Amino acid sequence: MQRILVAGGAGYIGSHICVELLNKGYDVTVVDNLYNSSKLSMQKVEEITGKKLSFFEADFLDEDVINNIFAKQKPEAVIMCAGYKAVGESVAKPLEYYYNNLNSLMLTCDVMRKNGCKNIIFSSSATVYGDPEEIPITEECPKGEITNPYGQTKGMIEQILTDIHKADNSFNVILLRYFNPIGAHPSGLIGEDPKGIPNNLVPYIAQVAIGKRDAVHVFGNDYDTPDGTGVRDYIHVVDLAKGHVCAINKLERDNGLFIYNLGTGRGYSVLEVIDAYEKACEKPIKRIIDPRRPGDIACCYCDPSKAEKELFWKAELGIYEMCRDSYRWQSMNPEGYGECEHADICLK
Ligand code: UFG
Repeated sequence: MQRILVAGGAGYIGSHICVELLNKGYDVTVVDNLYNSSKLSMQKVEEITGKKLSFFEADFLDEDVINNIFAKQKPEAVIMCAGYKAVGESVAKPLEYYYNNLNSLMLTCDVMRKNGCKNIIFSSSATVYGDPEEIPITEECPKGEITNPYGQTKGMIEQILTDIHKADNSFNVILLRYFNPIGAHPSGLIGEDPKGIPNNLVPYIAQVAIGKRDAVHVFGNDYDTPDGTGVRDYIHVVDLAKGHVCAINKLERDNGLFIYNLGTGRGYSVLEVIDAYEKACEKPIKRIIDPRRPGDIACCYCDPSKAEKELFWKAELGIYEMCRDSYRWQSMNPEGYGECEHADICLK
């Protein structure tokens, strides 16, 4: 394969995937509507890699435009990272989440079919396991009860892609179930740029570390975990991005439908993450214990051995590197992509 289309490639995870694909010599086409991302990230990707990519500002609900992009660019595979992703917002706006996430995926598959593109890698989530029956979570662990519309869209899209593959087994699918991606590219040039108050732990800690917020709110210390706070499998976003290149390589070798957990296999509690961040930024991080956040589970980490065996992929970076690179990005870009958001950049 030579040309890969990254849907949502200007976003946090998508931009890191672009870097790894370009580093491995692939041609990259990004399609992004910039709803929750910045065009500036594309310029930074080119700066990091010294290579050019093709960027199209377009919406995955706009069939004619997407069809034209496929017809001209002729990608051999799609990495689908486009979609709304905030758990809390999805509870308040379920229709928007179902409408956007499901329709974008279905429209993409239809356009792929019309243009002879038969390979898709989907950004799924550990959220499909619900409150897992077994820890560490293997890919065989049954899917659980999903408590929010965002997570439901992940589960539904997994089902849609599975059924499309069943009906046409030359349509190849890899479902990548991400655990908790954090950190940033070590250059400090690209990273996560949440709108408003961060919902996720590490972006929140990052804003406390640079003095933008006062203290981290720890959501519950009465869970059945060693220190009472929630345990998650945090994974460096660069490791996660490399997992996508390995998934492309898998589709170059084999046809079929494959499911992989992408995590480190090691859980860290909220307090352990805050402590690691303190070491990385060499500053104290104030914390306040708050009640539990509704819908949260106690503990979630994976068994990543299937990805190691079949994708030849293993997470290499630890919690220190995750915090160090998060802090570097946040301190170099206190306003994220900020004011440059609407800079006039020509990438084609
Ligand atoms: N937490 C806090 N304070 C905060 C934010 C989070 O204590 O300000 C705690 C949570 O209670 C949880 C842990 O930190 O124990 C991690 O929370 P995140 O919000 O960072 O991540 P989640 O595990 O809740 O959610 C992530 C992704 C979702 C995905 C889910 C399951 O954000 O997209 O993992 O895979 F669906």
